[in-house]
Amino acid sequence: MYTAVAIDGPVGAGKSTIARECAKRLGFIYVDTGAMYRGIGLYCDNTGVDISDDNAVERALSDIALEIKLEDGTQHIILNGKDVSEDIRRPHISMAASKVSAIPAVRKFLLELQRSFADNNNVIMDGRDIGTVVLPNAQVKIYLTADDEIRAKRRYDELIAKGEQVAYEDVLADLRQRDYNDMNRAVAPLKQADDAVLADTSGLDFDGSVALIENIIKSRAKLL
Ligand code: DC
Repeated sequence: MYTAVAIDGPVGAGKSTIARECAKRLGFIYVDTGAMYRGIGLYCDNTGVDISDDNAVERALSDIALEIKLEDGTQHIILNGKDVSEDIRRPHISMAASKVSAIPAVRKFLLELQRSFADNNNVIMDGRDIGTVVLPNAQVKIYLTADDEIRAKRRYDELIAKGEQVAYEDVLADLRQRDYNDMNRAVAPLKQADDAVLADTSGLDFDGSVALIENIIKSRAKLL
C-alpha cells in the first residue's frame, strides 16, 4: 500500500519547489503534473496548432508522445524523444498550458499517465485537480496558496534570475488571468478538495513553508 500526497493550488504558490524538497526528505517520488500540460502547450506552440481550436488540439494529441523520467528526484519531461524540461518553463508556454488544460480531451489524455505514478510509488503529486480528480483517495491533500501579489513577486524574481525580460505588472496580470482560467473552466477546475488542509505561505519563507508542509504530511500520513 503506497502513500499519496496531493498538493493543489494557484499559480506560483511554491507547490513544485516545496513538494520536491518534501519528497526528498520523505523518500517519496515527486510528480509535477503542470509540466505535462506545459508539454502539450509547447507542442502546439512549436507546430503551429491553434490552441483556441479545441478540435485541432484534440487531433494533435495522437502525434504527441510524452514521457516522464525521474533522475535523482528531478523530473524530466520528454516530448517526442526530446528533453523539453527547460523549454516548457518559458512564460508564454505557461498561458498555453493553462488554455489547453481546459480541453476535456487533453485532461483525459494525461489522466492515466498521472495515476500510474501513484500505483507503484509513494508519491507527492502537485497540480490543480490532484486531490479532487486525479487521486481522490490520496491519504493527504493540501491546498497550498499565498496572496497573489506575493506569488507574483516570487515568480517575477525567479524569471529575472533566469534572465527573462519581464515586468512585475505583466507577471501579476498573467498570474491572475491564469488563476481565473484554471478556477473557472468546466472540467476539473482548481478548487480546494473538501478534505484538503489549507496551507497559506504568505508570511513564510521557503524553509518555513517546507516545514509546514512536511509536518502536515507526516501527521496526516501518520509518519510521525
Ligand atoms: O503548475 P503549472 O503552472 O506548471 O501548470 C501549468 C498549467 O497547467 C496551469 O495553469 C493549469 C494546468 N494544470 C492543470 O490544469 N491541472 C493540473 N493538475 C496541473 C496543471
